[in-house]
Amino acid sequence: MSDSTPHDTPAPPFGGRSRSELGRIVVPEDELLGRVAALGKEITADYADRPPLLVGVLKGAFLFMSDLARHIDLPVELDFMAVSSYGSATKTSGVVRIIKDLDTDLTDRHVLIVEDIVDSGLTLAYLRKNLAARNPATLEVCSLLVKEGLQKVDPDLRYVGFRIPPVFVVGYGLDVDECYRNLPYVCEYAEPDR
Ligand code: IMP
Ligand code: MG
Repeated sequence: MSDSTPHDTPAPPFGGRSRSELGRIVVPEDELLGRVAALGKEITADYADRPPLLVGVLKGAFLFMSDLARHIDLPVELDFMAVSSYGSATKTSGVVRIIKDLDTDLTDRHVLIVEDIVDSGLTLAYLRKNLAARNPATLEVCSLLVKEGLQKVDPDLRYVGFRIPPVFVVGYGLDVDECYRNLPYVCEYAEPDR
């Protein structure tokens, strides 16, 4: 597994919200797209004889899933789950709720969970346990981002896009109060009120 190093350049202005909320760019657009393409290639090779069912975790993983799927040269199937672990705060509550469940039966399927970010790892631990109970043939995880040093238990990630410092980030699917998901890069969120 290979990682790339985040950058440290200021974020350009963005839309309606105060741009002062946006801090430094953590992963620029070209690095995101390059790494996602590489992950797609890796997954194509690893799953050549057993096409995977990609399970995207909404909403955060929607852009990553979309780009990743286009770089997997196999007859993949896609499904989505929506879970809530944060409410509107920027710290995890530890409580995970399924808001939308999968449409697909996982029995004997090669399931690859596609996550946006692993922070405390609580959401993923819950998801893994929940999906493992549905008897998939294999169950692996691909997370675009992992925050360094915050997981109490090894999150056991088969594929990782970037390891980043433990700061709150937005963009490329990630939000704060549902905003900034459409930024084409990942940048730090500066929390103006704190
Ligand atoms: P965990 O349960 O603490 O690992 O949190 C995982 C979930 O919280 C992710 O799937 C995200 O939806 C959200 N999250 C964690 N860190 C961030 C962040 O820095 N920005 C935006 N969302 C985050
Ligand atoms: Mg979120």
